[in-house]
Amino acid sequence: MIEKQLEDAERFIERHTRLKPRFGLVLGSGLSGFGTRILVDADLAFSEIPHFATSHVDGHPGRLLIGTVDDVPVAAMLGRLHAYEGLSFQQVVFPIRTLAVLGVKTLLVTNAAGGLQSKMKPGDFMVINDHLNFTGDNPLRGPNIPLGPRFVDLTDAYDPGLRKVLKESLKAEKVRAHEGVYVGVMGPTYETAAEVKFYAKMGGGTVGMSTVAEVLAARHAGLRVAGLSCITNLGTGLSKEPLTHEDVKAVAAQVAGKFERVVTNFTRKIKSRL
Ligand code: HPA
Repeated sequence: MIEKQLEDAERFIERHTRLKPRFGLVLGSGLSGFGTRILVDADLAFSEIPHFATSHVDGHPGRLLIGTVDDVPVAAMLGRLHAYEGLSFQQVVFPIRTLAVLGVKTLLVTNAAGGLQSKMKPGDFMVINDHLNFTGDNPLRGPNIPLGPRFVDLTDAYDPGLRKVLKESLKAEKVRAHEGVYVGVMGPTYETAAEVKFYAKMGGGTVGMSTVAEVLAARHAGLRVAGLSCITNLGTGLSKEPLTHEDVKAVAAQVAGKFERVVTNFTRKIKSRL
């Protein structure tokens, strides 16, 4: 039973910290450096938390940090789980549901993603204002679990108020940023050039292999969500370079400082709203 599994994970985490995190973060590929900005109270490997699956992708450490940033109690996932590793979407979102059970009310999901528009440059960011689910799956498939309703409304899945704050944080840190739609795909292949053209025509801004399942589970559980893509490359066909995970990580590493400043600024700004 998932309810019992969530309770196991919650109890385990609460044995390691007395902090009650209100703000959750998912730090995507190469973006885990924000962890250094956290005054850490508990540092837990996914592998030791009951019922958490583990991540084996390079650049995804698979740790949950609970601590404070400027006195804001936070729970940050350094790395995340991906369905392309062979996990079900239920496994992928188990950590998100655990954050909800722990009392997290606001979630920032971040990812490394491909840019679908020629005006974008590697190293730019994009505030996610909506998504297209091209993964072919949904974490809410199956019996409904009582964290939320059977049928979940996705109007403003990415909270307009948080989007505004995120844009202000990007501006304050002088970071080049766009706003648009994240296209979630299953991976692990990168897209074909035809797919990139198609996603762009359909209104996509960035494309990546994560985020969508987490956001669906978070909305189901009533969390307010903000999403931020770090554009590590242009989509297939928009640049001459073949895509490699090494390049994705290298660009994410180059912008890590900017990213950390933006997320720190955002955390400060939302402090009064948590
Ligand atoms: N496509 C899918 N996922 C990605 C990309 C991409 O171009 N870049 C980083 N993650």
